Amino acid sequence: MPRRVSSLDNQDWPVGSSARLRLPEDVKESLKGRRVLVTGGSGFIGANFLLESVPELPETSFRNLDALTYAAHPDSLIPLAALPNYSFVRADLRERERTQEIVREFAPDIIFHFAAESHVDRSIAAPAAFIETNVLGTFHLLEAARGLAKTPVFHHVSTDEVYGSLGEEGYFVETTPYDPSSPYSASKASSDHLVRAYARTYGLRTRITNCSNNYGPYQFPEKLIPLMILNARDGRELPVYGQGTNVRDWLFVTDHVSALWAALSRGRDGETYNIGGNAEARNIDIVQSICDLVAQATEQDPAKVRSLIRFVPDRPGHDLRYAIDATKIRTECGWRPTESLKTGLERTVRWYLAHDAWVKACSHQDHKAWLEKNYQARIGSGASL
Ligand code: NAD
Ligand code: TYD
Repeated sequence: MPRRVSSLDNQDWPVGSSARLRLPEDVKESLKGRRVLVTGGSGFIGANFLLESVPELPETSFRNLDALTYAAHPDSLIPLAALPNYSFVRADLRERERTQEIVREFAPDIIFHFAAESHVDRSIAAPAAFIETNVLGTFHLLEAARGLAKTPVFHHVSTDEVYGSLGEEGYFVETTPYDPSSPYSASKASSDHLVRAYARTYGLRTRITNCSNNYGPYQFPEKLIPLMILNARDGRELPVYGQGTNVRDWLFVTDHVSALWAALSRGRDGETYNIGGNAEARNIDIVQSICDLVAQATEQDPAKVRSLIRFVPDRPGHDLRYAIDATKIRTECGWRPTESLKTGLERTVRWYLAHDAWVKACSHQDHKAWLEKNYQARIGSGASL
C-alpha cells in the first residue's frame, strides 16, 4: 500500500515504542515552570498535542487560545478540564488587541501556533478567511510576542504544501523553493515568511516546522481519511478526486506531536525543520485500505464497501505528490516516527468507529452545508454525515 516505507534510523526520540508521548528527562526538566501558549488547541493537531503534553508535563502551564470555529471540537479536551496546569481562553487571532491582551497577560515562554483555517477545498471555495486568520492572525500573534518584555520562543506549525507539488521523484527539503498552489498553502507560505522575517528583523526566537499530511483521532471529518471512514461505515459514496493517483506522505498525528517537541527542544533558533512519516501512498490505495478495514470491523462484504468508490471531478490546482525528506529533524533533533501507515490506519479506523458521540457532534449546520456545497456538484448528492 505505501509506496515506500523505509526502515527508520533508531534515534533517541521519542523514548520507547509506545504511541504515547514520553519526553526525555532533560527536556521535561527544562520545561518545568514554563508557560506554553497553544493557539488552535481545540482543533485536530492542537488537541492531540495538548492531550499528550499536559499530563506529561504537570509542572508546565498550558493555555489554549482558540476561536472555536466550525473545525474546533471542545469536547476532545474534556480529559484536561480538571488538570491544574491547563486553561482555555476563547479568542480570535483576527482581533489584534484581544490577542495582544491575552499574550501580555499570560506572558508565555513558548508559543505553539497551530490556529489556522486548514482545509484546501474550503480555501478554494472561500479564500478570505484563510488570509484573515493564517496571514493576519499570525501577524497579530507575532506582534504580541515581540511586544513582551521577555520574548518567547515562537514555534510556527506549518505544512509541506508551501513547497507546491512534486513529480514522480524527489523530496521536499528545507531549502526547496516555496511554490504554493492553493489559497490555503499560499496563506501558510505567507505566514512562514512573516515568522522568518520576525526572526531576522526583530531577533524573535523561532522554529518553523513544515509537516506532511496528518491523520489519526480527532480529525474533523471533512478531510480525506475520516470522511472516507464514516462514509464507508454508513454505506455512502466515497468521492475520490480525479483518478485517485495523487500521493500524500502520511504521518500519524502523535508522531507530529513528538516531532514538535523535538524541534523545540533540540532544534536551533531561526531554523526550519521538515517533518514526515516516509509513508507515501496514493489516495486510491488509502481509500481501498479504509474500505477493507471498515468492512472487517463492521462485518460487511469488502467488495460491497469498495463499490461505493466514485471517481469525481478533480480539485482545481490539485498537487500531484508531496514527500518529505526528514533527515534534518532526525539527525539534528534525534526524532523518528513510531507508527507505520498500516498500524496508524488501523488505529484511526478503530477510533472513529468507537467514538460516535464525538462524530455526531461534528454534524452541525456548517459542516452539512459544506458537504452539500462541495460534493453536490461532484456526485449529484451531498456526501453528508
Ligand atoms: P484544524 O482545522 O483541525 O484546527 C484549527 C483550529 O484553529 C481550530 O480549533 C479552530 O477553531 C482554530 N482557529 C481557526 N481560526 C482561528 C482564529 N482566527 N483564531 C483562533 N483560533 C482559530 O487544523 P489542524 O489540522 O489541527 O492543523 C493545525 C495546524 O497544523 C495548522 O496551522 C495547519 O496548517 C498545520 N498542519 C496541518 C496538517 C494536517 O494534515 N492537518 C499538516 C501539516 C500542518
Ligand atoms: P485532504 O485530506 O483535504 O488533505 P490535503 O489536501 O491537505 O492533502 O486531502 C488529501 C488528498 O485526498 C488530496 O489529494 C485530496 C484528496 N481528496 C479526495 O480525493 N476526496 C475528498 O473527498 C477529499 C476531502 C480529499
